[in-house]
Amino acid sequence: VSLKTYNTFGVDVKAEQLVHIEHEKDLTQLYDTGALHRDKLLFIGGGSNMLFVRDYDGLIVHMAIKGIKHRERAGAVEVQAAGGEVWHHLVRYCVDRGFGGIENLSLIPGTVGAAPVQNIGAYGVELQDVFLSCRAFELATGTFKTFYKEDCQFGYRESIFKGALKGKYIITEVNLLLSKQSKLNTTYGAINEELNRRGIAQPTIKEISEVVSSIRQSKLPDPSTIGNAGSFFKNPVVSEDTFRTLVSDFVDIVYYPFGLNQYKLAAGWLIEQCGWKGKVVGNVGTWKNQALVLVNDGNATGLEIYKLSETIIESVKKRFGVCLEREVNVIGV
Ligand code: EPU
Repeated sequence: VSLKTYNTFGVDVKAEQLVHIEHEKDLTQLYDTGALHRDKLLFIGGGSNMLFVRDYDGLIVHMAIKGIKHRERAGAVEVQAAGGEVWHHLVRYCVDRGFGGIENLSLIPGTVGAAPVQNIGAYGVELQDVFLSCRAFELATGTFKTFYKEDCQFGYRESIFKGALKGKYIITEVNLLLSKQSKLNTTYGAINEELNRRGIAQPTIKEISEVVSSIRQSKLPDPSTIGNAGSFFKNPVVSEDTFRTLVSDFVDIVYYPFGLNQYKLAAGWLIEQCGWKGKVVGNVGTWKNQALVLVNDGNATGLEIYKLSETIIESVKKRFGVCLEREVNVIGV
């Protein structure tokens, strides 16, 4: 089976077997066949955060459970969404009804079930800010368990599902607590600039969603036309000492204070300074408006994309002494 349409990089690799899960009971049935005990097993949602570097000689389980519901309670609303829903469909469902909290996360590619795994975030908001709980299926026992926010160990693009419980659970449902008042999140300059440009002083939830969408569309390539997986690397977090040395050598360095005595550097800036922005090497390159995004220029193989990422890591390391870490999951290395 070709996986070309199951990964947003559009890499044409094959899987030995592919099954679709449309209901929770499909998981239980699959468990009963013993298929979930094999070594080569991979769960995918929208395929927007993975890079296949070779054919997959195992079973791919495509999570496609759909459904969104909500329940209002005093001034707030609880929204329940199935794991296979497209994340942006959930954002639209909420924005259309005036439920605030995830409008800054408009147009993030991928599915609802994948969102907690890397605690998706953009424009000053992270999933954890509105997360209540999720329901997950334990592969070893075939049973469902609820994880509350405090169980998930959320961090910057991190959670227990990428850490201690990696590969052990698959998320089938996410519950969020949203608000019926629009709360402008002003921590991110680009949103304010665009609101000012549009002359909007008191933005609605919908206006914030529109502003975020237009910023994303102007900066990021649309995966339906240009294969990509969003930010390929994480923004590296460095210590105060490292940071002081870097700023004295590179006065323009772009950074954000991060927790206590730490700094998060804009990886896009580091990569651009090494001359990679918009550069094309064979079939692969970095995006012309955002160097943090690697793009498939047509018929790239996963290995070509991976090799470019290695070269970029080396050049950033050489110039800045900073080690970039991939945000995208590489499958097959
Ligand atoms: N920059 C450059 N050159 C570039 C790109 C960026 O100099 O080619 C500098 C600019 O100064 C820019 C700053 O870096 O102002 C920040 O860039 P941007 O606003 O695009 O954000 P980012 O830090 O590069 C992160 C997330 C994105 C998210 C945006 C907006 C990570 C790894 N990425 O990118 O998330 O949309 O912030 O909040 O944290 C994703 O995870 O796939 C993703 C797209």
